[in-house]
Amino acid sequence: MSEAARKDHGCGSQAAPGEHGRELRVLVLPGDGIGPEVTAQAVRALRAAAEAEGIGLVCEYLPVGGSAIEEVGEPLPEEVLRACQQADAVLLGAVGGPQWDHLPPDRRPEAGLLALRRGLGLWANLRPIKLYPCLVRVSPLRAELLARGVDIMLVREISAGLYYGSPRGRRSDGSGFLAVDTMSYSTHQVERVLRLAFQLAMERSGRLTSVDKANVLATSRLWREIAGWLRFQYPSVHLEHMYVDAAAMEMVQRPWRLDVVVTCNTFGDILSDLGGGLVGSLGLLPSASLGDKNPGLFEPVHGSAPALAGQDRANPLGAILSAAMLLRYCGAGEAGSRAAERVESAVVRVLQAGYRTADLEEPGRCLVGTSAMGDLIVEAIREG
Ligand code: IPM
Ligand code: MN
Repeated sequence: MSEAARKDHGCGSQAAPGEHGRELRVLVLPGDGIGPEVTAQAVRALRAAAEAEGIGLVCEYLPVGGSAIEEVGEPLPEEVLRACQQADAVLLGAVGGPQWDHLPPDRRPEAGLLALRRGLGLWANLRPIKLYPCLVRVSPLRAELLARGVDIMLVREISAGLYYGSPRGRRSDGSGFLAVDTMSYSTHQVERVLRLAFQLAMERSGRLTSVDKANVLATSRLWREIAGWLRFQYPSVHLEHMYVDAAAMEMVQRPWRLDVVVTCNTFGDILSDLGGGLVGSLGLLPSASLGDKNPGLFEPVHGSAPALAGQDRANPLGAILSAAMLLRYCGAGEAGSRAAERVESAVVRVLQAGYRTADLEEPGRCLVGTSAMGDLIVEAIREG
């Protein structure tokens, strides 16, 4: 997103960190499972890129999710939320694990993440889904379906919908239980995320796909109606509506047709994992959650993968690319954009050189662990 688009949406309106001598203050929340391992490498990449571009950086670490439950007894302690609100940006690993699955819904690690998104006033989650040409053979799709590339910017609404609606919960109905979740969206919640998606489409190819289930859901009908009004204010954008079931098929049959895709919280969650599978591994995907003002929240799309934790086998690239998004969107101006490009180009060069974590394994390539991948990226960032 350009500075202009950020301004339009109010993002990053504070005095620029990393410029005029002010340091960039990053709150790091490593979380659970593989979160700490991938976050450690992301912080190294962040430091190397910030240093190369003359951006002062201060990192502070706090617990969230299961690790906060263990330390403080709740998934998002108030002090942690407050510290996040005062930072320039928040870098998160992942939350969750089987040892906390028995807890009541509002005390689970995932509840901490949802409360954090809400507590920071975040409403747009950008999830770029990019195919690296050197990874074509890692994707489950035939090479000919990938020949035109995959470069999708998935914009997921994250402030509302099924994740937050009330009433929710369950009660006994005599013969068993009745469980209820509520999907609700207001005009305001839909309009702001659609506007951001239109802006992004203008900066990219001019194509926008709005994904819904308007043949069944009331929220989707409102969504489609608002997208229909807004299109007249963005005449250079070609808007297409697509049902979510059809969009899932499109992603695997003709992924090159999609550019900016905007959708609600639940559909965005599902389609982004599909996108990870499409480009070879969910471990590659970063994300940036933005609101009206800083701080944004930057986290890989993959989860805590408890079975992989502590083995130095996790792919840190999703976390490292989230650090790149942090540098781009934290309000650090040109230096931040240059630092982000350094990280992204380092990732391309290291993959092109044939280094792979276990999730990307291919015959004839060099298998490396989490921290060795971090070493390679840091070295490539320094080389510039
Ligand atoms: C994601 C995750 C989260 C979500 C979970 C952990 C609550 O799956 O960021 O995609 O569903 O938003
Ligand atoms: Mn998810």
